Amino acid sequence: MAGSQFGKAFRISTYGESHGPGIGVVIDGCPAGLDLDLDLIEKDLQRRRPGQSKIVTQRKEDESFEILSGIFEGKTTGTPISIFIRNKDQRSKDYSHIAQKYRPSHADFTYDSKYGIRDYKGGGRSSARETAARVASGAVAKMLCNHYGIKITAYVSSVGSIKAPEIENPDAEVIESNIVRCADPSAAEEMIQLITKIRKAGDTIGGIVCCVVQGMPVGLGEPVFDKLHADLAKAMMSINAVKGFEYGSGFKAAEMKGSEHNDQFYTDSDGLVKTDTNHSGGIQGGISNGMDINMKIAFKPVATIVKDQNSVDKEGKATTVTGKGRHDPCVVPRAVPIVEAMAALVMADHILRNRQSKL
Ligand SMILES: Cc1cc2nc3c(=O)[nH]c(=O)nc-3n(C[C@H](O)[C@H](O)[C@H](O)COP(=O)(O)O)c2cc1C
Repeated sequence: MAGSQFGKAFRISTYGESHGPGIGVVIDGCPAGLDLDLDLIEKDLQRRRPGQSKIVTQRKEDESFEILSGIFEGKTTGTPISIFIRNKDQRSKDYSHIAQKYRPSHADFTYDSKYGIRDYKGGGRSSARETAARVASGAVAKMLCNHYGIKITAYVSSVGSIKAPEIENPDAEVIESNIVRCADPSAAEEMIQLITKIRKAGDTIGGIVCCVVQGMPVGLGEPVFDKLHADLAKAMMSINAVKGFEYGSGFKAAEMKGSEHNDQFYTDSDGLVKTDTNHSGGIQGGISNGMDINMKIAFKPVATIVKDQNSVDKEGKATTVTGKGRHDPCVVPRAVPIVEAMAALVMADHILRNRQSKL
């Protein structure tokens, strides 16, 4: 299956299925000499982990990881870094009901039609279990970003119709202080109540994750096909269940006049060129302009619901599918570290690529 690699200079290849022996990632291109903090990898994997709170799936996936290569005495050596996460607590029999049937709006029909063979246990390769490999490699990318002064913070800004204000300077401590990972604790309470209600009804609900990248240098992003926002869009749209991506003014730009939308330049007291508004979302002509990058990523209500739904089996005969197994009523609390990881992978890649841009 092609399409398991991401990035050009800082490149990852992920592998593994939900109910196979394990999943993992090989990072190629990470420079030598980076201090690798294993606790940061562990911390981000725990933030993505199922079973972390009452509002996420109660699957108990083991997130303990092994680094198989690329590290010596706590530092990267410049050789491929391989990270392996063994699968445990798989209940493969939970999925026998979908061996011959297609779950509506999941990946069953398309995988079967394309390949003629499908690992249906836990969704196989289409399972969000794969995102643990992104989060592990994203944590390494975050360390490289930190080295260059770039900080990435994501938070939940909406669940269903409950919306929290978007924050310019999100506080990671506040975000992690509530189980929904919202930057506004009072909206978080309402979101938790809604997710609990949805879960009891056997249904699922969508939501939005916002992500802010601070400390950006000017100059990341490559014209013309590898524009920074194009790579960010691909990174975010490749996350399971993502339906929408916006950066800067996003779809609101279509309603605005140039006189409202233009970000006017000025030079600040440190002599840095800034803009007085940030409708460009920190990117102009596909290249970072030094302002913060702000993005919004929309997640759908995931497919597994505990209700009878019309479907077809492998022979195309009409059948009924009812969600069993353990699943997420709303994925956005667990998606926060995944969004941060994908943003970090894009930034790490472009930091390294930018070093070749001029003499
Ligand atoms: C953190 C996370 C957890 C997910 N958990 C579930 C789940 O429990 N049940 C489910 O049907 N889909 C779940 N998904 C979404 C599926 O992986 C995804 O819908 C499926 O692969 C089909 O891809 P698509 O929705 O992007 O088209 C989850 C996604 C994420 C990001």
